[in-house]
Amino acid sequence: MCSNVTKSIIADLSEVSYSYGEKQVLHGVSLSITQGERVGIVGESGCGKSTLLKIMAGLIAPASGSATICGERTPSEIRKKVSVVMQSSMLLPMTIFENITMGHDYSEEHVREVLKKASLLEWVDSLPQGMHTYLGDRADELSGGQAQRIAIARAMCKDAPILLLDEPTAALDPATASSVIASLDAFTASPITIVHVTHQVEYLKGYDRIFHMEGGRLHV
Ligand SMILES: Nc1ncnc2c1ncn2[C@@H]1O[C@H](COP(=O)(O)OP(=O)(O)O)[C@@H](O)[C@H]1O
Ligand SMILES: [Mg+2]
Repeated sequence: MCSNVTKSIIADLSEVSYSYGEKQVLHGVSLSITQGERVGIVGESGCGKSTLLKIMAGLIAPASGSATICGERTPSEIRKKVSVVMQSSMLLPMTIFENITMGHDYSEEHVREVLKKASLLEWVDSLPQGMHTYLGDRADELSGGQAQRIAIARAMCKDAPILLLDEPTAALDPATASSVIASLDAFTASPITIVHVTHQVEYLKGYDRIFHMEGGRLHV
């Protein structure tokens, strides 16, 4: 939770614009999200969805306007407040445990819990070294679905107040995509704030608001 935020606005974008070189891709985007709200964003490829999420994730800063996430405006501070699952996730040459905890001091019990929610526990327990299996040796054997589940487990483990999803199943075949969505649903059953970019509106059932993005602008 963001204890330093009054009322319950957890993310506040005001007139955010962004350009890659000469090319302006976001045009004065304003959006206020309250704590616990689930917001979906749909739109054609290239309309600026990922750029907007990167600003909310503190990966890039707006060229003009402001982005305040959990009361933070500095990208490095924003990054501490969000969990992110992108379209394809980078796994690092470390153990499964280390790929999930990412240098933070989480207990094995906590990691087991998130492995279970991400439908990974059975597989991990079948490995001779369990969650301490070195992934560098196995990265090629992992399916896209397993890699995305590890990324979801990483996001769950962090337990940040905001979860940003950027087409987390777009690179998967339909059957794997629905099972990964089921893992995400187990995660999102908690009262976390979610911003979910997707091409598939059916993934946004029960969401509080859905925006359409077009040419770097958000429409209701
Ligand atoms: N790193 C980059 N450098 C230059 N142009 C980029 C970069 N990333 C994205 N773009 C361009 O910005 C526009 C918006 O991209 P993006 O935010 O990824 O859209 P979406 O996620 O909706 O597909 C696209 O035209 C894309 O080609
Ligand atoms: Mg994108």
